[in-house]
Amino acid sequence: MKAISKKVHMMTFTAFLLVTMLQGGCSNTGAPPAGTSAPALAFQYDKAALPGAKPWTSEAFQNNPENFQFAVIGDRTGGSDPGGIFDRAMEQINLLQPEFVINVGDLVEGYTDDKAKAASMWDEAEGIIKNLEMPFFYVAGNHDMGNDTMKQVWLERRGATYYHFIYNDTLFLVFNSEDPSNPVPKDIAEKTAEYKKLQERDPEAALKMLGEFMASLDAYKVPMVMSDEQISYFRKVLADNPNVRWTFAFFHQPDWENPETGKALQAIEEMLANRPYTVITGHLHYYDYTQRNGRDYITMGPVGASWHKNGPGNVDHILWVTMKKDGPEIAMVTLDGVWDRKGRDLKLKDIYERTAATEGVYQEP
Ligand SMILES: [Fe+2]
Repeated sequence: MKAISKKVHMMTFTAFLLVTMLQGGCSNTGAPPAGTSAPALAFQYDKAALPGAKPWTSEAFQNNPENFQFAVIGDRTGGSDPGGIFDRAMEQINLLQPEFVINVGDLVEGYTDDKAKAASMWDEAEGIIKNLEMPFFYVAGNHDMGNDTMKQVWLERRGATYYHFIYNDTLFLVFNSEDPSNPVPKDIAEKTAEYKKLQERDPEAALKMLGEFMASLDAYKVPMVMSDEQISYFRKVLADNPNVRWTFAFFHQPDWENPETGKALQAIEEMLANRPYTVITGHLHYYDYTQRNGRDYITMGPVGASWHKNGPGNVDHILWVTMKKDGPEIAMVTLDGVWDRKGRDLKLKDIYERTAATEGVYQEP
């Protein structure tokens, strides 16, 4: 926590210096526009030349040092795209410069009992993630933690399967929705490997295979489970932090989409009931927004993971969250629209224009 707080101060100071330098050509110190909370020197202009009307509006600058911005990204795997979408997204996030990034799980295909194989999957994913210029927070997904071997490898690398942190008076709860993990088809690892090979050899057959596989998963739609230890841990975290300005709850599986909502989600909602909060999940590879209990509940679209349904939620994107004094401002940024300074990158359209596995094969009931 110490390092994070230090960074906040550093960034605030750097932002202050930058704005001051940008305005350095002005001769007189002017007071900031009415209502702004900016330091007196943050905005300067030539008062003698502009004593009355000004060529700018009088709104306050949006530079409250309490505000901060972070990015959320969705699934990479569960049938990953071979075209390097996730790799490219790291470069695009660096262009946007959030203060940190948080994922909603499923970064490796997992479901292996071979520890070395699991380790090499993580080596690959972490090799891409290390290209980010800011901290990256992990959330466990079913592919990341689908069996004991995967859990062991996760713990060796990350120390905990659920945790919390505070950033600028905002509480982040990172739940583990795989505690224990839900049942999956026995041959899921083999199927995933076969699908990966087919993607290279015969993309159409790969899509067909994925669509049929998704259609067969209905029997596995069971409520999310979390251990009593985990629920107790978060109860204590919330009791210890009653006055933060906002709480974000992250977990992989949007349990409210299941035919039957589990006890874990009920417990989470009950413990959050008396505070403002936002829930962000992934898993379905399809952007979705709903409200429950008057709060925002978001299911992230993917960053590279295959599309499983038909519809407008099929989008590779990031969520750009600006935490303000009274709550978050949330913008959805599609990755085909994030270009560098050289201008429009037509290649992005092809890369991000993908086909859903379910087109013509499987329709949501
Ligand atoms: Fe998942």
